[in-house]
Amino acid sequence: MKLIVSESHGQSAKLAAGQIEQCIQNKKDALLGLATGETPVPVYEQLVLAHKQGRVDFSRVRVTNLDEYQGLEQDDPCSYYHFMRGNFLDAADIPDGRFTIPKGNAEPAAELRRLNAFAAANVTDLQLLGVGVNGHVGFNEPADVFQDGYHIVELTGETKQSNACYFPGREIPGKAFTMGVGNIMRAREVVLIAFGEKKTSALRHVLEQGPVTPRVPVSILKFHPNCTIYVDKALMRGITPGPGIEVL
Ligand code: PGA
Repeated sequence: MKLIVSESHGQSAKLAAGQIEQCIQNKKDALLGLATGETPVPVYEQLVLAHKQGRVDFSRVRVTNLDEYQGLEQDDPCSYYHFMRGNFLDAADIPDGRFTIPKGNAEPAAELRRLNAFAAANVTDLQLLGVGVNGHVGFNEPADVFQDGYHIVELTGETKQSNACYFPGREIPGKAFTMGVGNIMRAREVVLIAFGEKKTSALRHVLEQGPVTPRVPVSILKFHPNCTIYVDKALMRGITPGPGIEVL
């Protein structure tokens, strides 16, 4: 595992975007697994800039996304579909035909079949990840077991509290569709980006010596053969990288 510590989140985002651009240069029809939340926004800004400047060609790139709130329509302003269109896909000229994301308002069993069939037929070339304060990746919340495929998850109180700000004046949904940890681990390359001291505890379970446990889902990245983690200095305060971490 590679660890790249930057002065700022903006700097981490530039480097992470550079790694994604490299992936697309190597494979024009790459399947990118993308993420939502505050953390990846500047990564998308960098990728859109690269697109506008003609430095990266998104014309054959395909995108899949980690998760979606259950019950939300795609055009709901709080949906992750809406987030992805607004923050990246529209500006990168990626149409729905090249974008796969759980449909929040679909019949759950049929939707899970659709998503798991897609995952079985397509290997993600590069999966971009953020991490929750509680160590979740996608919406894989702390649990007794790691889930393999797409499933529906009950959001924890902590996650609902962290994300309530995105639902002004309304209640945040209690459940979500999410890609499983197995799907994430099958990606050829994983790029995780995180910043700030509120994520230190979660990253300690990846970067320091200690058990891999579904109680802190992000810890499983210790087992990924091609994972790069971009963090800022503030997050790293108090973390001593364990053996097997290549600090760049
Ligand atoms: P954030 O969310 O980027 O908004 O902190 C990350 C996550 O919950 O995975």
